[in-house]
This record gives sequence, structure tokens and C-alpha cells, in this order.
Amino acid sequence: MSNQEIVKKLLDKGILPTAENIAQESTNVTIVKPRIDDLRARVKIVKEFDYKQKKITADDFTTHYRERYKTMRTILFNRPEAASAVSIDRVKDMLSDEDQVIIGIVSDVARMYTGTVKLIVEDLTSQITVIISSKNNDLIEEAKFLTLDEVLIFKGRVRKGVMFLHAIIRPDVPQKKETFSPEEVYSVFSGDIHVGSNLFLPKQFSNFIDWLSGKVGTERQREIARKTKYFYIPGDLVDGIGIYPGQEKELKITNLRSQYEELSKFLSRVPDDKQIIICPGNHDSGVRLEEPQPRMQDYAESILELPNVTMVTNPSYTNIHSMDNYSGQDVLMYHGYSFDRLIDQVEGLRLAGGYEKADEIHKFLLKRRHLSPSHNLNLTIPMKQDSHIISQIPDIMVSGHIHKANIGNYKNTISISGSCWQAVTDFQLKFGHVPDPGMIPIINLKTRKGSMLSFK
Ligand SMILES: [Fe+2]
Ligand SMILES: [Fe+2]
Repeated sequence: MSNQEIVKKLLDKGILPTAENIAQESTNVTIVKPRIDDLRARVKIVKEFDYKQKKITADDFTTHYRERYKTMRTILFNRPEAASAVSIDRVKDMLSDEDQVIIGIVSDVARMYTGTVKLIVEDLTSQITVIISSKNNDLIEEAKFLTLDEVLIFKGRVRKGVMFLHAIIRPDVPQKKETFSPEEVYSVFSGDIHVGSNLFLPKQFSNFIDWLSGKVGTERQREIARKTKYFYIPGDLVDGIGIYPGQEKELKITNLRSQYEELSKFLSRVPDDKQIIICPGNHDSGVRLEEPQPRMQDYAESILELPNVTMVTNPSYTNIHSMDNYSGQDVLMYHGYSFDRLIDQVEGLRLAGGYEKADEIHKFLLKRRHLSPSHNLNLTIPMKQDSHIISQIPDIMVSGHIHKANIGNYKNTISISGSCWQAVTDFQLKFGHVPDPGMIPIINLKTRKGSMLSFK
């Protein structure tokens, strides 16, 4: 029996089609039905990034990078290795045989035919050439993960104004202390709906909304649906207009406002007690592409009118389900537009699984404390406060964009990538996307355990 047939059979029986239940279907394992509690959704917006459009000058970029360097340096000073750091203009004149430590931004990476890697590293005082010997296998391996503009601690011996590298230390995140909700309550994560595309999958999306509305499933599955109080949508709600050349041939709805109106018909079926938290993605063409993207407003009026929608910027931090003696879960939501070029540019990420492994991408970004480390990954507004710096460590980090569902964990930050509700497009194939529609990551905030629901 195919997966699709099993899912249909489960839904006909009123059973939630989780990956486990699909597997259990052949062995007929019974599902337990615990007690149902009354729950109330609580969402707080913790941090957003507003920016009033103005004329951008070269000075804005200089300030942006100086401030980024300073903020990252402050983060790096939490690392014991930073204690002995000196400025680059001082380190270049040093004649000691001992290792020196600098904090710098990577401004060039060149790989020599001999296998040696040559970096140019800058700080606010000067720049220096940093050499990674081809014989140092660990560092050469590490160099596969280097990106332009990341700010790191470099440790090595300095000879005639050149540093011979012995160690790279990244800002990284500390092990997060886990907190658990006193109540059993769930959050689901699913963006990249792409309404308006002729490859949008309305039947599958409708099945998901039916489940979320408590209309299908056994008592236990309806109970989980009822206890699901948070629904995060990390962007690409609609397919948008004029996103890529020839898109009009792949559109069923060619008017942007009508695309959102069609989506609102689905979302209005989600019971009001569930909070829907939404940020824009690169297909939501009613807002600018440059990040941070503002809250969705124009064209998405029909979504804004829904009583249970919280619009936030991309990126943003929200907090869910806090109560007396429980601080809730901080959720960092970022659409993930930087991921395409990141996968393209970072050999180590491609070797780790590329589009298949969003958790590796999240880990890479958490280690760098930055959502878009290189200037060429994204169109970024050069704000004084860099919106891509991961200034606080989230309990949950969620993204979309790569259309591949994934649940991971890095030092107790749960990593979530949503799938999509759109079949594969020619455009995605060209960029190596292999979408996996209809998969829903769900997290129980009481146990912080995740599982995957399938609505294929
Ligand atoms: Fe998308
Ligand atoms: Fe996207």
C-alpha cells in the first residue's frame, strides 16, 4: 500500500497521519487517549526590526559593518580565548614565538592549488593575511565552512606581518537551559503555502486545516489538534507576482490581493483559539525583499482581518505560552532567503546534506550567531542594528523557504524547517530544490519533543 493510500485510510478511520501512525497502520497498534485540558494561547512579540525607508548611502554600509563587528566582538568576548586578543595593527609588529589572538572579520578567502587556504582578516585598525597550512587537516576541514564577513577569533603565530593559523574560535551559542511547559500544548510550523501558484496543493492543505480544526482523527488526534494553540507560518504565504522570469505561466491567480483572499478562506477555518504567527517571505511581494522585511500589511488585508493572526517582521522573536513560573518558549522565526546562496557557497554545508538538512544550516548560523553572515547572501538593509545577528538564544528556531521539513536540535535550541504546500517548480529544480510538500513539524511544549505529521 502506498503512503498516500495509508494516509487516506488513516484519515477515513479518523486517525492522525503522523509518520509513527503510518508505520503503525500495518501493525495495528492502538493509540492511547488521555484527558483533555482547557488551554489558552499566549503570544508575545519579543523583538522585531522596523526600518523606515530612506535614501541609503555608502556611509550606512560602513556604519552597519562597524556596528556588526563591534556587536560580534562583544559576543566573542564571552569566549575565554578572547581575553588575550590584540588589535591587528599591533599584532603585525609582534616578534614573539607565542601564539597571538585577534578578533577579525573575514574579508577574503582564497584556496591555493597546493591546498593552502589564504584569508584576509580585518578589524577596525588594519588587515592581515592569515594562512591555513594544507598539512593541518582539521583546520582545512574547518575552512570548508568559512564564509565571507563572519567575525571570528583567530589564533596563530605571526611572522613578518602574516598569521599562521592554529585555531579558529566561533562565537557559537552556549548550551541552552531547557524549560518545559507545565501544560501539554503544541505548536505546528508550516509556511511556503504558495497560494496562487498552479502547483499549490489545496486538497492536502485543506486536510491539514481540517485536522487543525479538530474535524478529523480519533479522539486522541482531535485532542492533539485541540491542544495545538500555535501555528507559525514562516513566509511565502502566496506565490506572489513577478518573483522570477516566466512566473505568470505558473500562476493560477494572477492578482496578489486575490491570492491572499484565497488563503484567508483556508485560514479562517482555523479555530480562533489558535494563534497564527506570520512573517513575510521572498514571495510575499507586497513587502520589500530587502531584510529585515516589515510586517505584511498591503494586499494581505484579508489575512489581517482574521481575529487570531499576529503579524511579525522577518526575522523576529516571539514568545509563546508563558505563565506564572514558566517563561515560555522564545521562537526565532526567519524565512530563510539566505539559505540558497549559503548552500551554494559553503562546501561544508553541501557535504553535510545541503537542502536536505536544514538543521545543519541552523547549526551553522547559530555557531556564527548570524542569520546571513555574508553580504552577498541576501539583500540587506544596512541598519545600525544588524537584524540578522542572533543576539538572544532561541528555544526554537524556525525557517521555511527550502520547502523541506526537518526537525533538529543544537545545544537545546530546537531547529524547525517547514515544508510547503506546492509541488516542484522548474525554477526550484534549477536550483537543486527537491520539495517535500505536506509535512508538518509539531512540537509538544511540555516535553519539547518534536514529530512530523504527514498530509501527503
Ligand atoms: Fe517558498
Ligand atoms: Fe522563499
